[in-house]
Amino acid sequence: MKTQLLPTSQDAVDQAGVLLRQGEVVAIPTETVYGLAASSLNGEAVKKIFSAKGRPQDNPLISHIADLSMLEMVVRDVPQAAYRLAEAFWPGPLTMILPRSEQVADEVCAGLETASVRMPSHPVAQAVIRAAGVPLAAPSANLSGSPSPTTAQDVFADMNGKIPLILDGGACEVGVESTVVSLAGPKPVLLRPGYITKGQLEQVLECEVLLADAVLHPLKQGEKAASPGMKYKHYAPKAEVTILKGPFSAYVSYVEKHCEPGTFCLCFAGEENSLPCPCVLYGHEKDPAEQAQRLFSALRELDARGAERVYARCPEEGGIALAVYNRLLRAAAFRVIEL
Ligand code: TXA
Ligand code: MG
Repeated sequence: MKTQLLPTSQDAVDQAGVLLRQGEVVAIPTETVYGLAASSLNGEAVKKIFSAKGRPQDNPLISHIADLSMLEMVVRDVPQAAYRLAEAFWPGPLTMILPRSEQVADEVCAGLETASVRMPSHPVAQAVIRAAGVPLAAPSANLSGSPSPTTAQDVFADMNGKIPLILDGGACEVGVESTVVSLAGPKPVLLRPGYITKGQLEQVLECEVLLADAVLHPLKQGEKAASPGMKYKHYAPKAEVTILKGPFSAYVSYVEKHCEPGTFCLCFAGEENSLPCPCVLYGHEKDPAEQAQRLFSALRELDARGAERVYARCPEEGGIALAVYNRLLRAAAFRVIEL
């Protein structure tokens, strides 16, 4: 299949709408990462997403809506808490999990009784959903297991020949996937940290939001993931990544002792001049939003430069930095050395 990469225009959006209504898959920009979209109501179309990504069948997809009138096409029994979160954070990088509707395709829910839904703020994502006229199921537009794409060129590298169309909307602003919160149980649970923080959710909900164990810990053998996506190795570059936790001075000493050909540093901006290995930067130490925006492209750059071993500086563990730490932990397959 020939893959077209088109700059955003009304024509390109119309073309995406036609393809989606025909049951095809189209890659679109969102404010978080690029998504691989198909109609949430068309099981055959959704199957094409799974095969283009090589995604395990038991990992459910997020449905994207353009306005609240589409909400009940995806979920039902929507509680007041969900409307409060929608009011505060939609359109934006927040996904809610609720009991699924009848209408949403079984393939989207991957056998669960729940469905996940978000209203993206990116104007191109909004326009494409409206052009398609239905909620769009869209996982990140990478091959399963590789870092999420934050530019149309990243999508092209993974999806060339597999899908008919990629819309280029420039680099994604947020850079990590949406915050995922489940409202389907007795208490809200944060399943995946993102740009919208646990503290922000608690402020709006006026109650505690639990943190799913899988956010910071590998699943124990046989343990069932609250969010199936958490159990897969994720976001991983080809290199072996190790997170070095501790002050910068200790990081420098460690890297000096362990630097060999093929070793790279994944460090904060401004640190590169004190290090003996080639460095890839992922934002300033005190700017977690910048780290989030840079992380996935930094992981892709490490692959492109042939890194074999990577020593990563450790982000903080609260606020937006929790999202950065969560993704980096998976890229490192949970290898952390305390200095
Ligand atoms: O920012 C985002 O959310 C991006 C853009 C494209 O919108 N999408 C995205 O989708 O990250 P994906 O499929 O890569 O991640 C969805 C995550 C997975 O970890 C999945 O297991 C979880 O959400 N998930 C989806 N539906 C769920 C459900 N009903 N119950 C529990 N977890 C669910
Ligand atoms: Mg993904």
